[in-house]
Amino acid sequence: MILVTGGTGTIGTELVRLLRDRGAAFRVFARTPAKARTLRDTGIEVVEGNLDQPQQLEAACDGVDTLFLLSPVDPRQDELQGRAIGAARRAGVPRVVRVSGAGARTGSPVSFSRWHATTDKRLEESGLAYTLLRPTWFMQNLLMSATSIAAEGRFSLPAGEAAVAAIDARDVAAVAAAVLLSPAAHENRAYELTGSAALRFEEMAEQLATATGRAVRYQAASPEQAGAAFRSAGLPDWLADGMLEMYASFRAGEWARVTGDVHKVLGRAPLAFEDFARDYANAFAPPRKA
Ligand SMILES: NC(=O)c1ccc[n+]([C@@H]2O[C@H](COP(=O)([O-])OP(=O)(O)OC[C@H]3O[C@@H](n4cnc5c(N)ncnc54)[C@H](OP(=O)(O)O)[C@@H]3O)[C@@H](O)[C@H]2O)c1
Repeated sequence: MILVTGGTGTIGTELVRLLRDRGAAFRVFARTPAKARTLRDTGIEVVEGNLDQPQQLEAACDGVDTLFLLSPVDPRQDELQGRAIGAARRAGVPRVVRVSGAGARTGSPVSFSRWHATTDKRLEESGLAYTLLRPTWFMQNLLMSATSIAAEGRFSLPAGEAAVAAIDARDVAAVAAAVLLSPAAHENRAYELTGSAALRFEEMAEQLATATGRAVRYQAASPEQAGAAFRSAGLPDWLADGMLEMYASFRAGEWARVTGDVHKVLGRAPLAFEDFARDYANAFAPPRKA
């Protein structure tokens, strides 16, 4: 039995679909009652609970042999996931598959990467078997710019001319499903998950233009402009600052490395940006006139 946390998010929604299609024995630990109901309505076993309440996770771990551990970017990530790892151990769960992040290292200038390094180390030292999935930047992050692309045919990020080996989050889910379905083959390993090419945002804009049949332009923003936009959109300081650190490391060329780990696990190439642009074209297309 697999217990899936984060099953209603970007990776998790696709992961749940894959596990269901493959007939896996799994349940989802879901915190939002309406989302739990929607999953239950499709015949999926759901336990409602919050990672803030480790005893809820411990109860949900009954009979579980693999915990899929995912929580959102948050300064409290290590506290939350540390408690989850402790709850899994108390419940006798032998292994954890955790979503970490590319560049996870304690000396990273990017706070998100430092937080992931801390939690990775905690899991590695927990005595439980583990697999770490370290994806790069998700192509799906561009959906946050979909409104401006759809309305004005442009988007703006403080990425300069950086090339990024972005990954389609559907591939992260596919790798997670493969690992969860044959965990012994992936025990005590870390996978650095990237797309098959590093693209500049200008090149991504060109591919979005091809997919939507209209002009799409990337405009490089200065860190100051982007910081002001993040804060006026209501992002808390820790998130706005963390994103600026991440884009600075893009500009320093630190996210361009392409690995073969998706191919190693799935036996196929990662989805290309072109695939993402085609499959999500409707989200970026101009609003239809009434
Ligand atoms: N975005 C990227 O480019 C990127 C790149 C590399 C690594 N990552 C890593 O990927 C992870 C995020 O994955 P994602 O984008 O799939 O996540 P997401 O879409 O933000 O979804 C987060 C999930 O966690 C659940 N959740 C949040 N707080 C919870 C709590 N207290 N108790 C129980 N469940 C809780 C959410 O439930 P609700 O639906 O109920 O809110 C949702 O299912 C992070 O660790 C991030 O660092 C992201």
